[in-house]
Formats: sequence, C-alpha cells, structure tokens
Amino acid sequence: MIIKDFLPDPYLVKKKEGKSLWKAPSNIALIKYWGKKQNQIPANPSLSLTLNSSATTTMVDYRRLGKNGTDFAFDLFFEGRPMESFRPKIETFFKRIEAYLPFLRQYHFKIETSNSFPHSSGIASSASGMAALSLCLMDLERELNPEMEPTFFKKKASFLARLGSGSACRSIEGDLILWGESPDFPESTDLHAIKYPFKVHGVFKNYQDTILLVQKGKKEVSSTVGHDLMHHHPFADRRFVQAHNNLSKLRPILADGDLAGFIQIVESEALTLHAMMMTGSPYFMLMKPNTLEIINKIWEFRRATKTPICFTLDAGANVHVLYPEDGKESVMQFIKDELVAYCENGQYICDQIGFGARKLMVEK
Ligand code: PMV
Repeated sequence: MIIKDFLPDPYLVKKKEGKSLWKAPSNIALIKYWGKKQNQIPANPSLSLTLNSSATTTMVDYRRLGKNGTDFAFDLFFEGRPMESFRPKIETFFKRIEAYLPFLRQYHFKIETSNSFPHSSGIASSASGMAALSLCLMDLERELNPEMEPTFFKKKASFLARLGSGSACRSIEGDLILWGESPDFPESTDLHAIKYPFKVHGVFKNYQDTILLVQKGKKEVSSTVGHDLMHHHPFADRRFVQAHNNLSKLRPILADGDLAGFIQIVESEALTLHAMMMTGSPYFMLMKPNTLEIINKIWEFRRATKTPICFTLDAGANVHVLYPEDGKESVMQFIKDELVAYCENGQYICDQIGFGARKLMVEK
C-alpha cells in the first residue's frame, strides 16, 4: 500500500456519539528499530515479540460537535485522574494523523487510559498506548465507513500508531511482528507492521519474557533523543546494514527452532542498541550496574545448565529475560534465587508472547 491508500473517501454515515474500548499490548523488539527518517519512517526493519499481559486499556467516548472546532477537542484521564501532561503528545499525534482521519476536529473525545503494569515501572507505555488509541479512533472511522475490510482496519490502525510512536505499529497484532521494508519479505513496508509471514518453530510458541525492573521511573533518555543521535552517528550506516543482515539470518533460525542462533542474534541486537548510545555524540550509558550483574548471571546460568535463556534490553536499564515455556519452572527459580535481588524493590513482571490487541465490551 502507499500513503494515499490511507486517505479515506467521503464518509457514508453520520455518527453523533459513541464509545470504543481497546486493550493493546506492549512489545519487545528482537531486531531493534533505532534511527528514523522523516514522518516516522524507520532507518531499518525491526522484528518484535508481542507481549501478553503488559498492556494499555483505552476508552474513547466521542461526541459530535455542532461545528468543526478550530482546535482538537479532548479530555484526558489516566487511571481515573485528569492527566494534562499527556496533552502535548496527543496534540502532536492528532496533527500527524489528521489528514488520514479528517473527522478529528468534528468531535469531542474523552480519552481514558490505564496500564496493566505499575505506573513508572520503566516499561514504555507509548507503544501500547498509541496502539490502543489508534484502534479506538479506527472504530469510529469504521462506524463512518461500515464497508471497511477487517484487514484494512488493522493495517490502518498500525499505520496511525506508527505516527504516534514508531514501535507502537508493532502492538496491533501478534505474535511475531515485522515493521520496515526488507527485500527478504515481499509484503514488508515502512508504513505499517505486518505479521511475520514465514514458518516459526514450535519452540517459540508461548515464549516467556520475565521483565526485571532494574530501574523504575521515567527513562533517563527519551527515544526521540536516541533516534536523533543516529543522524550523525559514525557507525549508523553499518548498524542499519547489520539490522538487515540479522533479520535475514533470523529467518532459518526461527523456522528450525535454532535456539543458539536465536540467542546470539537477540543479545547482540540488545548490546548494539546500547553501544550506539555509548558511541554517539553526545553519548549516554543506559545500563546500570545491576543490568550488568543480571547479564553476567544469565550467561553463567546458561553455561552451567545449558538452559537456552537469553536477555534483551530496550532503551533503559531493565532486562527482559527470554526463554522457552518448557524451561519455565527452573528459570523462574533461578530468577527468584539470583536475579530478583538486582531489581528495584524486588519487582519484576512475568509476561509471555501474546496475540495482539483486543476490543472490549463497553459497560452500559
Ligand atoms: O517507538 P520508539 O520511538 O519509542 O522507539 C523504540 C525503540 C526501541 O524500543 C529501543 C527499539 C524497538 O524496536 O522497539
């Protein structure tokens, strides 16, 4: 599809008011997106695991205004309380998507949102949050254009979510999601994410992700700053080539269930993301001493027990511990005995691979 395909034809129906409620999951990248071009176009393709329980639930209550507003009209609530600090982010998002959802100035929106994970846990809610909001807005567009195809609904939700926060486009569906053009994947595009289209071995079914909260609270360096760093980064071009190569290498690894190959690529991607931050100008160190302690313990445990456990990181100090479901009992014991001590207040989140966003019933 091309950008023009997301511009709607004149709407067939008028809708005065309504509500939409969606729960969208977070995701964790195996091949990292780090660096972007204008309009949230990624500098390289990325591949992610959709999570299951780490999610944002958003309800949008919309009411048609008498005449088009000059400004966007919305009220924001986070976990039941007004949340004015989210306003600039939503304003920017609405401006970016207005051309694709021309009804935005015709309605007042009450947006109520909550996260399944603890507030300030260091888990980014922008992916799940922008995905949930995009799905709610697509629900309204589907009311105005009831002939919309379900596949188009999801594609456009991912397209819109991308304009809110790049990685959010990978939070609409599950379980393995690809975003960004790659010659190895004919359907892949920079505009929205797609389901990983090739064979995936059963060992990756119900893959586990235990998220160790090393440092809670807001990220020290925003991803916007991190992406910007890649514009003049001395290693940027090599990094983008490496991401393409790693994605190609993953294809047979995922098909054959080659866990050693999987671990090598996933950990290398995580460390490369952090290496980019350390070698940028300015430079940043996002890991904390406890992040390194955990990584070393994981390596020791893997060496000693031959358990195919590995880690990945997002742009912060927390550690995602990834492992197949059949090793769950012994890995959880190891995490409790050896890793929880490095978590802030001993906090961690047990999650696993998930299957995408869900529409929920609105209570009357
Ligand atoms: O979606 P953004 O702009 O917050 O960027 C996310 C970047 C990483 O989480 C570090 C990697 C990724 O692919 O999700």
